[in-house]
Amino acid sequence: MSTFKKIGILTSGGDAPGMNMAIRAVTRAALASGVEVMGVYRGYSGLIDGDIHPLAVRDVSNILNRGGTMLYSDRCPEFKTEEGMQKAIETCRKFGIEGLVTIGGDGTFRGATDLTAHGIPCIGLPGTIDNDITSTDETIGFDTAMNTVLDMVDRLRDTCESHARCNVVEVMGRNAGDISLQSALAVGATAAVIPEMPFDEEELFVKIHHNRELGKRNFIVVVCEGMGSDYAPGLTQRIEERTGVVTKFARLAHVVRGGRPTLRDRVLASMMGEAAVDALLAGKSNLVVCVRHSEIVLTDIKYALILDRMYKNKLRDGDLDDFSADEIARMKAHCAERRGALEQKYRALNRLGL
Ligand code: ADP
Ligand code: F6P
Repeated sequence: MSTFKKIGILTSGGDAPGMNMAIRAVTRAALASGVEVMGVYRGYSGLIDGDIHPLAVRDVSNILNRGGTMLYSDRCPEFKTEEGMQKAIETCRKFGIEGLVTIGGDGTFRGATDLTAHGIPCIGLPGTIDNDITSTDETIGFDTAMNTVLDMVDRLRDTCESHARCNVVEVMGRNAGDISLQSALAVGATAAVIPEMPFDEEELFVKIHHNRELGKRNFIVVVCEGMGSDYAPGLTQRIEERTGVVTKFARLAHVVRGGRPTLRDRVLASMMGEAAVDALLAGKSNLVVCVRHSEIVLTDIKYALILDRMYKNKLRDGDLDDFSADEIARMKAHCAERRGALEQKYRALNRLGL
C-alpha cells in the first residue's frame, strides 16, 4: 500500500490531444491503488487559486476521444515567483495534496522541479504537440498533430492538382521542425523548411521549375513556424515570382493542436500516465516519464532539461558540472542519435519529394 492518501493532477502550457487520456490514466491508476485524486484546473494558476476538485472514476469517463484538456490549461507567470510558489504550496497543504503529476512541456517541468524542492513531489508527463522534449522520442499529442497536418495538406494537394498550383503551408511546432518534417515526408512535399537545417531557396525554385516543365502540377512546401512569421508568406511570393507557378499560402496555426487523439497518442498517454502514478506512489519524484526505443522509462527532470539545452545548442556555463563523464557521454550520444534520425528523414524528403 502507498503512503500517499491524495495526489493531484494538472495540465499546463499549450494543450495537446491525448492529455485527457493521460488524465484518465493517472486518475484510474491512482484510484485503483486506493489513492484519492484531485483535479487541479487551469494548470499552475489553479494551484495558486485553489481551483481544485476531486476526480472519481466516472469523472474521467467519455473524455478519451476528446482533444484539449478537461482540466483546462494556462500559462501562469505568477507561479515563477516565490510568492506564487508559496501560495501553491499552501493550496496543496489545504487540499491535502501530497504529490502531483504535471502534464506539459519543459516550462511545466521547471515548475514541477521547483514544487518538488518545496516539498511537493512531482512527476512530469510530456504533453505537447511540438515533440521538442529531447529526453523522450515522442510527446503526447505529437502523433495527432502530424496526422492533422496530413489531413489538411492532402486537401490542399487536391486543389493544387486541379489548378496546377503550389501551396506553402506553415505548421506549428515552435522551434522544433519535427511536425513539419514528418508530415512533409508523409504528404510527399517538395520541401520542408525547418529551423534545424540550412535551406537553399534557389534549389527549391530550380526544382519546382524543372518539375513543372516535366508536367508536375501540384507542389507543397511545408514551413515550420519557427522560421519566423514573415518567412512563409515571403517564400510564397518568391516562389511565384521565380517559378511562374501560382502559389498560395496557408497557416494551419492552432487547428493542429485540437481534435480527436490518434490511437498512438492514446496508448502513449495511457502507458505514461500509469507509469507516472507507479513512480509517484513508489516514493519517486522529479522525474519525467519518457519513451525511448518504444519503452517507457523514467528520466531525472534536471537531466532531461540539460539534455534539451545540449540538443538545442543552448548550454550555459556550469550546466554540465553536476553530471558525471558517463552521463555527459550518454547525453551526447542521445543528441547525436536524435539529430541523425532528423537528418535521415530530411534527406529522404529531399530525394523523394519532387
Ligand atoms: P510548456 O510547459 O508547454 O513548456 P510554458 O513554457 O508556458 O509551457 O510553461 C507552462 C507554465 O509552467 C508557465 O506558465 C509557468 O507557470 C510554469 N513555468 C514555466 N517556466 C518556469 C520556471 N522556469 N520556473 C517555474 N515555473 C515555470
Ligand atoms: O507548444 C505548443 C504550441 O502550440 C506551439 O506549437 C506554438 O508555437 C505555441 O504553442 C502557441 O502558443 P499559444 O497557444 O499561446 O498561441
